[in-house]
Amino acid sequence: MSLSRNQMLDEMGLSPQWVLREQPALERGEASAPVIIPAASPGSKPALSVETQASLAQYGPERAQQIAGLGWDQLRHSIADCRACGLCAQRKQTVPGVGDERAGWLFIGEGPGAEEDARGEPFVGVAGKLLDAMLAAIDLKRGNDVYIANAVKCRPPGNRTPEASEMDACAPYLKRQIALIEPRLIVLLGRAAVHALLGEVGSLASLRGKPLAYRDGKNEIPVIVTYHPAYLLRTLSDKAKAWEDLCRARALMRQISREQAASPG
Ligand code: URA
Repeated sequence: MSLSRNQMLDEMGLSPQWVLREQPALERGEASAPVIIPAASPGSKPALSVETQASLAQYGPERAQQIAGLGWDQLRHSIADCRACGLCAQRKQTVPGVGDERAGWLFIGEGPGAEEDARGEPFVGVAGKLLDAMLAAIDLKRGNDVYIANAVKCRPPGNRTPEASEMDACAPYLKRQIALIEPRLIVLLGRAAVHALLGEVGSLASLRGKPLAYRDGKNEIPVIVTYHPAYLLRTLSDKAKAWEDLCRARALMRQISREQAASPG
């Protein structure tokens, strides 16, 4: 059954009177240059745990370089066989990501939960239902110009937050996904996703609304930071802020599309 946009907004806990406001220039990312956080900025990376150091020693420092050269099929196989951190021990299966492999929109969450572990697809549980509603509220749909991935591809036991070393071990996969997708905009859902992609650069609250970008080689991809759907299910009072972030993301994407149309190639 497909829901109307107003029903989706209701589902998100937002009444239909929420409409897209004209964004101030700063929020549109026009007033100042974005804060560029390089893909591998020295100093922003968490210290590697003993397990990750052991895994790097076992798999060699070339692992990231090797992953950086994989195509989609090879990447999926590599993820399915991965034993680079302890999360492989209890997984039912890996959860690489889902959606349009050339999507304009890339949403990044934390890591699979029990349902995702069972089904092999990200965000299919309760938090996923809210994510689908959030997407629908800005006229997006899973798989349709949208790709959904996680910071880690295996379920952390008990749905705990992935450790820095686990995100570090999985980072080459996320970075390769970004390089293959070449999204026009990345939306980071929650602190773990921020940490995985940008490093320890500040609290989620301090990053919301800031012009941020992720650098992938020569490409600078704008980044929007917002709350994780599971957090929003527990903290209803922050849903309105998430809605602001989504509106900001949509305005930014429209701006990017206009700019790309004006300067093709
Ligand atoms: N939470 C996440 O961060 N990712 C999922 O895939 C499911 C729940």
